[in-house]
Amino acid sequence: MIALRPRRLRRSEVIRALVREHRVEVEQLVQPIFVAEQPADAGPIASMPGIARLTPDGAVAEARELFELGIKSLLLFGIPAHKDAVASANYDPEGIVQRTIRAIKSALPEMVVIADVCNCEYTDHGHCGLLDATGEVDNDATVELLVRTALTYAQAGVDVVAPSDMMDGRVEAIRSALDAHGQTGVAIMAYSAKYASAFYGPFREAAGATPQFGDRRSYQMDPPNAREALREIALDVAEGADIVMIKPGLPYLDVVRAARDTFDQPIAVYNVSGEYSMLKAAIANGWLDAERAVDEVLTSFVRAGADIVITYFAKEYAQRKRHG
Ligand code: PBG
Repeated sequence: MIALRPRRLRRSEVIRALVREHRVEVEQLVQPIFVAEQPADAGPIASMPGIARLTPDGAVAEARELFELGIKSLLLFGIPAHKDAVASANYDPEGIVQRTIRAIKSALPEMVVIADVCNCEYTDHGHCGLLDATGEVDNDATVELLVRTALTYAQAGVDVVAPSDMMDGRVEAIRSALDAHGQTGVAIMAYSAKYASAFYGPFREAAGATPQFGDRRSYQMDPPNAREALREIALDVAEGADIVMIKPGLPYLDVVRAARDTFDQPIAVYNVSGEYSMLKAAIANGWLDAERAVDEVLTSFVRAGADIVITYFAKEYAQRKRHG
């Protein structure tokens, strides 16, 4: 009986690279970008070292840098000057996201601009939708607002809209409205399995979108549920989602794998703000090696089956690949 020796294929970097099963390509990364309408709101985000809220001009400059580095897809979030109960700044054709979409697409027509569609940054109470008389988020009234917002993004030239609200039926409603308005080329990346997670903490500081009362558990998913995630994804696929997303990433890699084994659609995973901040904090303390830890985390998403990785590490990963 001959000895089986897997170590033979680990003896040098060249042979390891030869048998490597997965690679993280710069082309599959999406960089999230925060754009503030008021200059006073722009600036670094304390809980997310290396990430800032940008002015619209700053966002165009950042997009140019990213494009040059090979990061050719970005996900836009707006921080409006005005919040109210009906999120009116969200579907204003001259809103901060609409203006930024136009500016980036005119500077860089090839850039794939994805816009998050949600109300939480635009409502004064910080929930993702309209509240009914009892203080609950009203699903169908919220869907109407999401549709209005998605249409203004499409008219501004967005490539992909990404509803992140977790209302039922919003993908179909957005798809029908886009098609009825001749926007058949605009794709939908649905936040299909979005969990009510503690890991959004830093984002809520970044975007000023913390609920003023209660939490998001009546619309975002309950963390222990995996089969339900597959049902949510199946619904979004049936409603016309072009890309489905699982969010957060690291605590839900099992869901990414199950989705990969079940669906043929492109799968995105969102490596969210809290996952970024915890790594950055450990790196800043000297407890983790930055390059190895980031590479290992990004690889875990690809190995779990994600095609697209939305990550605040996109730019630094691309810089590192560029400069070796
Ligand atoms: C908007 C939205 C959130 C994130 C993306 N879109 C916050 C939330 O649902 O509370 C989180 C992104 C991150 O943490 O990086 N609803």
